[in-house]
Amino acid sequence: MPLIENADKNQTLHPEEDCYLGQFIPLQYHHHMLMDDYRMNAFKAAIDEAVFPGAKVLDLGGGTGVLSWFAAAKADKIWCVELNPELIREARRLLKLNHGGEKIELVHADAFEYLPPEPVDIVICEMLHPGMLREKQIHLIKSFKDRYNQHFGGSLPRFIPEAVIMAVQPLQQIQRFTGFHAPIIQFQQPGGIHNDTLEFCPPQVYSTIDYSEKISEQFCWKGIFKLEQDGEVNALRFITKNILSISLTDHSIIEWQNHYLILPLAKPLQAEAGNLLKITFNYQAGGSLAHLQNGITAILA
Ligand SMILES: C[S@@+](CC[C@H](N)C(=O)[O-])C[C@H]1O[C@@H](n2cnc3c(N)ncnc32)[C@H](O)[C@@H]1O
Repeated sequence: MPLIENADKNQTLHPEEDCYLGQFIPLQYHHHMLMDDYRMNAFKAAIDEAVFPGAKVLDLGGGTGVLSWFAAAKADKIWCVELNPELIREARRLLKLNHGGEKIELVHADAFEYLPPEPVDIVICEMLHPGMLREKQIHLIKSFKDRYNQHFGGSLPRFIPEAVIMAVQPLQQIQRFTGFHAPIIQFQQPGGIHNDTLEFCPPQVYSTIDYSEKISEQFCWKGIFKLEQDGEVNALRFITKNILSISLTDHSIIEWQNHYLILPLAKPLQAEAGNLLKITFNYQAGGSLAHLQNGITAILA
């Protein structure tokens, strides 16, 4: 497979991978997304908060249509855009089973090209992957804002999510499975207690993105952690907190975190409490997990 140079000279992308990475989520995986009460309740609450009676809504990457259906409780009209023909068929079938589905127009199109026939009040987009990797949320919202501005002018719609905060934290992560040593990428439920994880110190924020402002596609970060424990630093945890909506009345926040992404370090480091750990990485939104993982440097100062 040929390699192309990315805008960032430190990274290369496979063109085919760059086009399709994270774009097609198989139908059977949508069942997991529907079963994930934490995700569903957070999006439902944010949509209930933001959508008002009579609103016009655009749902980019609609999948089964569930988020459009949440919006249909109050909105007058929803355009639900989905690229995968199998999902369009499935969404059509499912929306017929649910009252309110008739307000939703399913559009089989590439969200990178589609604009609604008239201005909308709210744009929902859930193409969210830990670290903003793989899926194309960032690129899509950027492209949408440019095209929408050129076509309609005026003010931009409100976005769900409104923002994302990303942080990183050094760990000693158990990498032995029934005796088998496997320093491998892991995912963890966000929050809660993780008995297989030692946290050396609190996480540090490396990026915040407000979708209504200028959006950066490159995450280039350098940071120093003061370790609070002895142990082997063998992994980094990437935390991705999506701010789905900020209430306009009481300013409360509805958030949803992606799974924690745990990336093993190429060379584990034996550390003591008080040591300084220098971390650097540089990756592109929508890139592969390997791009981020291969670009990490970790050294004890
Ligand atoms: C993470 S799923 C979310 C589905 C649904 N919104 C939900 O919350 O259950 C992302 C969806 O975006 C769709 N998608 C990805 N790239 C797309 C594109 N360029 N245009 C339209 N849909 C796209 C995928 O096929 C998938 O159904």
